[in-house]
Amino acid sequence: MTHKVLIAGGAGYIGSHMVKDLLAHGYEVLVLDNLSKGHADAVPHDHLVIGDIGDRDLLETLFARHEIAAVMHFAAFIEVGESVREPEKYYRNNLANTLVLLDTMRRHGIARFIFSSTAAVYGTPERTPITEDHPRHPINPYGASKAMVEQVLGDFDSAYGLKSIILRYFNAAGADPDGELGERHDPETHLIPLVLDAAAGDREAIAIFGQDYDTPDGTCIRDYIHVADLCQAHRLALDALLQGGESAIYNLGNGRGFSVREVIDAAAAVTGRTIPCREAPRRPGDPPRLIADSAKAQRELGWRPEYADLATIIRHAWQFRQRRAGIEPGEAKAESAAA
Ligand SMILES: NC(=O)c1ccc[n+]([C@@H]2O[C@H](COP(=O)([O-])OP(=O)(O)OC[C@H]3O[C@@H](n4cnc5c(N)ncnc54)[C@H](O)[C@@H]3O)[C@@H](O)[C@H]2O)c1
Repeated sequence: MTHKVLIAGGAGYIGSHMVKDLLAHGYEVLVLDNLSKGHADAVPHDHLVIGDIGDRDLLETLFARHEIAAVMHFAAFIEVGESVREPEKYYRNNLANTLVLLDTMRRHGIARFIFSSTAAVYGTPERTPITEDHPRHPINPYGASKAMVEQVLGDFDSAYGLKSIILRYFNAAGADPDGELGERHDPETHLIPLVLDAAAGDREAIAIFGQDYDTPDGTCIRDYIHVADLCQAHRLALDALLQGGESAIYNLGNGRGFSVREVIDAAAAVTGRTIPCREAPRRPGDPPRLIADSAKAQRELGWRPEYADLATIIRHAWQFRQRRAGIEPGEAKAESAAA
């Protein structure tokens, strides 16, 4: 039997890769995205419904019309700094709208849910690598909004039997290995695309926030997980729920951290370009190291990341960027060839 999966936020960065992955593995998908941040051209046209997860009437219609086996929920606002300035926006979209989605699912008897959570629920870690039982003390409204949904999901399982798999990602990175899809956030706040902008000459320089952390080169260490590996984990989580599995929580990371300087050096090697940098003061709330322990997902879901290598992650992101700029892999841009 072919299962139909509703992908909320499926026109965004990670969601669009998920749509491609599920279609390639024989699932049916329906994407619900309000395009506040996503891109219609990242999703096959006939799978996209443009609308909001907080629109109860629309959800009622969709759930009545389609037999949905499970919901994957990527739809959220994701900028930490903005969440500090505008918390209402984050609690409304990430928490209140999610509650509308969950409540409508519950009343239609849809009882399988996969949730995009984040390492931000842990706040400043007491120990690293971080396991799932690490205390959760989010330090910004973005992380708090995700932690609150996690709480809702636990209570919805106890009261209504709604089974959920919570996936706490570390830094999603990379792009579709075929080069068709990639990261197009606006504004972009993630390190790898910013570094590639600098490599391409579209950004003056990369700011390195803090050079005196207690790390080997003094810059912060983060855990980058390839978007295709994230998708594999979601598909395995979906299969676990479809087979009657219980609710669970998993970290998804590389298990290896890379410093800001390592990322810049790797990007310079992959692109063959010089990446201008400038030193900037530390940012408040930036822990020196954030590294996932993802052993539980590997053990219980059978997850086997394929693209853990930093150079591969950066190469795929660069390939996508070049393709969008109209440059095929291996082809030099006219002005850079002349430079
Ligand atoms: N990118 C990361 O590194 C990262 C890390 C940890 C967790 N996450 C989580 O993963 C999920 C996806 O992240 P992303 O990087 O793909 O972000 P994204 O902004 O590219 O995608 C989010 C999508 O959701 C849509 N959306 C937002 N609110 C909506 C609403 N109310 N109704 C319908 N659609 C709505 C947007 O238009 C967008 O297409 C988010 O929940 C985010 O919190 C991302």
